[in-house]
Amino acid sequence: MNAGPHIRMRRGTLEIGGVGVGTLAEEYGTPLYVTDLDRAVERYRSALKALISRHGDCSVAFAYKSNSMLDLVRALSRCGAGGTIVSGAGLGLAAAAGVSPKELVFDGPSKSRDDLAAAIRAGVGMINAESIQEVLDVESLCSQLRMKARVGFRVNFGIQVETHAGLATGSRGHKFGVDRKEVVRFCRERAGSLKWVNLTGLHCHIGSQITEMAAFKKLSGELVALADELERLGVHIQEFNFGGGLGIDYGHSRGGDTFDEYADATAGTFTRIRGPRRDRLVFELGRSIVADSTILLTKVNYLKRAGTVNWALVDAGMNDFIRPALYGASHLIVPALVRDRTPSKMAYSVGGPVCETSDVFGANQKLGVRLSQGDLLAILDTGAYGLSMASTYNMRPLPLAVVVTKGKHRLGARWEP
Ligand code: LLP
Repeated sequence: MNAGPHIRMRRGTLEIGGVGVGTLAEEYGTPLYVTDLDRAVERYRSALKALISRHGDCSVAFAYKSNSMLDLVRALSRCGAGGTIVSGAGLGLAAAAGVSPKELVFDGPSKSRDDLAAAIRAGVGMINAESIQEVLDVESLCSQLRMKARVGFRVNFGIQVETHAGLATGSRGHKFGVDRKEVVRFCRERAGSLKWVNLTGLHCHIGSQITEMAAFKKLSGELVALADELERLGVHIQEFNFGGGLGIDYGHSRGGDTFDEYADATAGTFTRIRGPRRDRLVFELGRSIVADSTILLTKVNYLKRAGTVNWALVDAGMNDFIRPALYGASHLIVPALVRDRTPSKMAYSVGGPVCETSDVFGANQKLGVRLSQGDLLAILDTGAYGLSMASTYNMRPLPLAVVVTKGKHRLGARWEP
């Protein structure tokens, strides 16, 4: 297993950021999210370095929805990360983490008027509108508030991507964005009448967990071509926002990261527009920065055989971590601290306490050992869309989250809307 430099086995115990899981489970209990803040910061820095090396000045507005833990957002913001928010509550998280509203991007297909008004009042850097009506609503809210706002169009270019169907957002007919030709028509016929809205941005987000770079290359070409066309109509685009979506290798089979490939995929087209033609280039990465910073630690409650299946029933459930149940996502499950370390070929299906057949983290997993009651397992790469999608389903409390930094651990500071 090579889960990254921050995770290793030492004397039979899994360590994350230099802290053994036995200590963590004893002190905080399980199920427990454990996030190595230093790893997240390192990933943020590698992403930014790769992007800056190809694009020059650009920024990452970290997608808070992927992980909205205050400690984590604060750690990234200290390194200069902006934020992508998808509700008015995101403004509070950003404020608590010390992120200036100017460094925020507000996205979402169905923003409430209250949230829009709060974003305008706060002076967020960019509101990406997903319908013509939204642009007009922002214009009228701005006029009531006597405040200007920078607005961009999230454009739907009809770009299909290979990912789980529930994670693709860029095809025609999806609820996201505004069709390219509608954007052109609006800019030709009505943009001139906007008094409060500065229509200066173009945005797109074609989906999540995307590993084929061709889709990103196509997208950057489309954004630049549209900006050229709008320029001829007198609409001057200053902020290009590429969305997020870069996938990770949940199987850990390829080694190395893909930030360089991702930066390359966009470099060719964006470098054409520099200087006064482009003030800002923004990437809204989430998963690729935080996914591998976190493990979900869970304890084996019971072992039993059902038909031909060996079940390891653990104390984490789909309410704590829903990706496997919701998307059929496969996450590596590793023995983190087990009583019997004798090598074994036993395969286990790992399921949780929730009364749903889909409450399973992995079927027929060869863990390399024979499990006993009380053993600890770690589900890897749970830093993105793990804790942030946890619920209290089955009347279960939300899982605890711990952060590790510089070899020390503490309860993670959360931020509740
Ligand atoms: N920007 C926008 C407008 C988005 O909708 C998203 C994610 C991102 C940025 C960040 O994308 P990322 O770099 O993390 O792929 N719950 C799903 C993922 C849903 C993604 C939603 N949008 C999962 O567990 O895989």
